Amino acid sequence: MRTMKNKYNKRAASLRCSPFTLVSAVVGCVFMIHLTMLYSRRYSVDLEVSPQLLIHHPIVRELERVEEENIHMPPPRKRSPRAIKRKPKRPTTLVEEFLDENSQIRHLFFPDMKSAYGPTKGEVNDTSHYYFPGRIWTDTEGNPIQAHGGGILYDDISKVYYWYGEYKDGPTYLSHKKGAARVDIIGVGCYSSKDLWTWKNEGVVLAAEETDETHDLHTSNVLERPKVIYNSDTGKYVMWMHIDDANYTKASVGVAISDNPTGPFNYLYSKSPHGFDSRDMTVFKDDDNIAYLIYSSEDNSVLHIGPLTKNYLDVEPVMKRIMVGQHREAPAIFKHQNTYYMITSGCTGWAPNEALAHAAESIMGPWETLGNPCVGGNSIFRSTTFFAQSTFVIPLPGVPGVFIFMADRWNPADLRDSRYLWLPLIIGGPADHPLEYNFGFPMWSRVSVYWHRQWRLPSAKEKKIA
Ligand code: GAL
Repeated sequence: MRTMKNKYNKRAASLRCSPFTLVSAVVGCVFMIHLTMLYSRRYSVDLEVSPQLLIHHPIVRELERVEEENIHMPPPRKRSPRAIKRKPKRPTTLVEEFLDENSQIRHLFFPDMKSAYGPTKGEVNDTSHYYFPGRIWTDTEGNPIQAHGGGILYDDISKVYYWYGEYKDGPTYLSHKKGAARVDIIGVGCYSSKDLWTWKNEGVVLAAEETDETHDLHTSNVLERPKVIYNSDTGKYVMWMHIDDANYTKASVGVAISDNPTGPFNYLYSKSPHGFDSRDMTVFKDDDNIAYLIYSSEDNSVLHIGPLTKNYLDVEPVMKRIMVGQHREAPAIFKHQNTYYMITSGCTGWAPNEALAHAAESIMGPWETLGNPCVGGNSIFRSTTFFAQSTFVIPLPGVPGVFIFMADRWNPADLRDSRYLWLPLIIGGPADHPLEYNFGFPMWSRVSVYWHRQWRLPSAKEKKIA
């Protein structure tokens, strides 16, 4: 009997384990599962494409090789007592200097027509197609491109890119003494291109209303950030834009429609989406053809996102508030391997500020903030989005994970002379300041926008090697 009891006790003791062992085992399992999930989410996708491409390929290395900038404050100008009385404060920061139309270093931010680039400049046979962010960019007729706050539509039917933006080729004035600098509405400019560098002017595809003062598009109002998406069900090109009055109190979105990418667009109406105010905005068409409107709302304190109706002419009654209380605007959305990304700016009118990158697994959120995507230049360049503001991000054809970041370097003293900054944007590596960590690992990949004074897209040959 004793022997049996002893035997039983021994077996029971070997089966029983302490609570500590049990908890450790469970925690270990959960950790392993998370690690596997994290690894597969962050790396399997890159491996699927071409591990060489994103990490080691010379194309990407070249795009990541940033340039440094060394702009210093100029020595203080001698000013007459009259000038001091008129404008008592001298610029004391580089941003103030940037905004000062009389700055001695203005040419560094807004180089003149002599350094313009475009298809009519330089050697006729020069096919290098370099971008020079900040310099004047001309179209196929040699005129500065007028497509500010713009966006790009790739038209699958014609295999042509269309660039839509604010046509601002008119005088800049203040709507009232303390109001923002403005240009009367002229309309939406459209340019077409096969290579994203040579742009042909297709004209004003949605024009201002000259006489009817009650019309949304009356010249005295505001039309900003037009974006066009194609609806394959209806065969229509649908344009969404920010519609406002001169004091930005109407805060609405407008919708226009056309049978052709080059218009003319027929203006339908403006509205307060989901019953809210809407200022800076964009639209994003997902792979499943569902399109979304994203707009700064509640006095720019929060972004709203919601799907459009099937015909893209209205919003569905579903909406999520994202980046609540973060005061972001100028949203530009893009997608890479089932993760959604967004670049936004802060809210400082025409003055530049720091960009932030955000990421989400579901477009309706939650969205996480990753940090400032800007790399290169110098710390002031990085903290001002290279003296510019986001407007759109285009996937680079044939190079997964590489995008073009489109931004506006606004010139509030002469808005028509605002410049375009197109720069390479690459997704890869761990994010700097993610809010979300998984067992000490940042949840998201880094989004980087690389500063270049001059750069070009990889050629078809280079992409093939990749
Ligand atoms: C910015 C906005 C621009 C324009 C500007 C007017 O905040 O991003 O699109 O509206 O304000 O001051």
